[in-house]
Amino acid sequence: QELQMNLDQIEKNGYDHFMLKEIYEQPDAITDTYRGRMLVDKGIIRMAGVDNNLEKFLNAKRIIIVACGTSWHAGLVAEYIFEDLARIPVEVEYASEFRYRNPVIYRDDIVIAISQSGETADTMAAIKLAKEKGAFVFGVCNVVGSSISRETHAGAYTHAGPEIGVASTKAFTTQITVLSLMALKMAKEKGSISKSDFHLYLRELELIPEKIEKALQSNEHILEVSKKYKDASNFLYLGRGFNFPVALEGALKLKEISYIHAEGYPAAEMKHGPIALIDEMMPVVVIATRKGHYEKVISNIQEIKSRQGKIIGIVTEGDVEVRELADYVIEVPDTVEPFTPLLTTIPLQLLSYHIALMLGKNVDQPRNLAKSVTVE
Ligand code: AGP
Repeated sequence: QELQMNLDQIEKNGYDHFMLKEIYEQPDAITDTYRGRMLVDKGIIRMAGVDNNLEKFLNAKRIIIVACGTSWHAGLVAEYIFEDLARIPVEVEYASEFRYRNPVIYRDDIVIAISQSGETADTMAAIKLAKEKGAFVFGVCNVVGSSISRETHAGAYTHAGPEIGVASTKAFTTQITVLSLMALKMAKEKGSISKSDFHLYLRELELIPEKIEKALQSNEHILEVSKKYKDASNFLYLGRGFNFPVALEGALKLKEISYIHAEGYPAAEMKHGPIALIDEMMPVVVIATRKGHYEKVISNIQEIKSRQGKIIGIVTEGDVEVRELADYVIEVPDTVEPFTPLLTTIPLQLLSYHIALMLGKNVDQPRNLAKSVTVE
């Protein structure tokens, strides 16, 4: 037993928990994921799984993404990215629903299955169904040689390295990285993005690891915010556009390791129901980066404030408007809008980590959860 404990310590590499280690590994994990695939100076994206099937990607009328949990959230981010850059319609499905729904699948559909473990039973079943219907199935997995990576026609691995914490962190951001590379490649080949924008996006993606390093520097401040709200019974997470799925992911992270009830919503949906929940007891985490829907998110924040909700704003560095309204702000560096999820996710991971720890929970192995869900 002592030996096991020592092994654990070595594997944690000085961090108290695997989850924290994996959060801090994200800059390297993302670099490892784009290394060799993205040649910024030459303006090239090389991905064998896409290159070898380029015709299929370019002729596809639609992409269907199937996944579960956090991987499903990465799929939702990818929906925004693919549609915005590559101008191809995307549907994102819970694998568990898709497999039993008698879905309409065409032979020229591309089905992308996302799975960290590559062993999730529902995702596997969805892949088999899509194959039966004649679709081309592409896997985005982290575990090399996993069942899903073997069952798919082609794929691209995330190079996140082993993810031990049950709460997925670096798998999520590396999945978004792979899917962003795919979307950019398709966009370039289809001509749906200008040359200069393509270069701009490559350069921005290359800078994401160092921007994550910067976002991680807010850790002490996030610890303070966590102390303030750790005893709340409920949390609401709001985001719009590319950051709506990040709100869902932030809420899932908090639920699974702290057991605090949390819900994620697209910010504008608030007035269709959840606003009824807001009072002085309700912390609301609002992703309010200075991008597309910034002004609209500000008015959502005003609505929360006038109902005494507590506001934790995730904002772009140097932001002043949200700072004036919010109880706390946590800054992340600026980037192009499609890549903001890679940065806004970081403080939400740290927030749930600290809260769970303060509540004395087992952050690496939360109750009732398994790292890979190999049964229905
Ligand atoms: C994430 O924090 C969860 N533990 C869970 O939702 C997970 O993402 C889901 O079970 C899917 O797993 P997969 O990526 O290995 O398929």
